[in-house]
Amino acid sequence: MKKTDLKELLSVNLASSHPHKCPDGTIHSKKSKGFERASILSSISSNQKTTFSYYHSFGLTENYILFLEQPLLVNTVRMAASGIKGYSLKECFDWNPAQKTRFHLIDRVSGHEIKTKYQSEAFFFFHHINTYEEDGHVIADIQAFPDPEVLDKFYLNKLRMGEFAVSCQPVFTRFVLPLKADGKKNENLVTLKNTQATAIKQDNGSIFLEPERKGEPGFEMPTINYSMFNTRRYRYIYGTGVFETGKFANSLIKLDNVTGEMTVWKESETMYPSEITYVPRPGSTDEDDGNIYY
Ligand SMILES: [Fe+2]
Repeated sequence: MKKTDLKELLSVNLASSHPHKCPDGTIHSKKSKGFERASILSSISSNQKTTFSYYHSFGLTENYILFLEQPLLVNTVRMAASGIKGYSLKECFDWNPAQKTRFHLIDRVSGHEIKTKYQSEAFFFFHHINTYEEDGHVIADIQAFPDPEVLDKFYLNKLRMGEFAVSCQPVFTRFVLPLKADGKKNENLVTLKNTQATAIKQDNGSIFLEPERKGEPGFEMPTINYSMFNTRRYRYIYGTGVFETGKFANSLIKLDNVTGEMTVWKESETMYPSEITYVPRPGSTDEDDGNIYY
């Protein structure tokens, strides 16, 4: 009906697509205008001068916020010119895999970042699946792509031609961050017995994370029994193979992150599932005792 500048109407101009709600409900406010009592807990400076990391979601544990600085960088110079030049958001991204993925852990009470520097090889992701603490470690489960090629899939000409590359598929990827970093150089600081993921202390004191992967690649929109298991040790991931032409096309997926076993179901070749919502059965105590809606 008319052109409106959203910046004039909204107090938050850039936000994560996936806000978190704590199990104890602390984000609830009695005031109807929720942002009136909002405050900034912490800010993380970009590692780069004229770019900042693209993000879509973040991790939450009982005591920490986990923010990943991935090397898909928003080029602020191009972004500033986008209004005139007509660049899309995608055209403002720089992929710089030589820059590692940086893991920032923020204390949820003080807002301070913990001093340990964690890094891994570059990868691209939209979605944290779940994050939790276990015996002095932070477990970070992420649906990770090798690179951001997936973003090119959504160009209209490619969609119209039905061209969906299957080369770049996301897979369940688990990083384990040891909270105690006082081990020796080249030592694996992960002491958990139930994971293949490692965290090797480097010469400069930083910790290099090598993840473990479970199940097969090719599904996205990961969700869990969120109301009962967010920030807690959990087992099941539900997702959809929406845009893929591979074996999970148009399918619903369940992944067991302990055994790696996957359950796949589809209605038909032409039924197209959306993002899943998991609803526990009222009164249930088992993680997997509920319904999924898609
Ligand atoms: Fe999302």
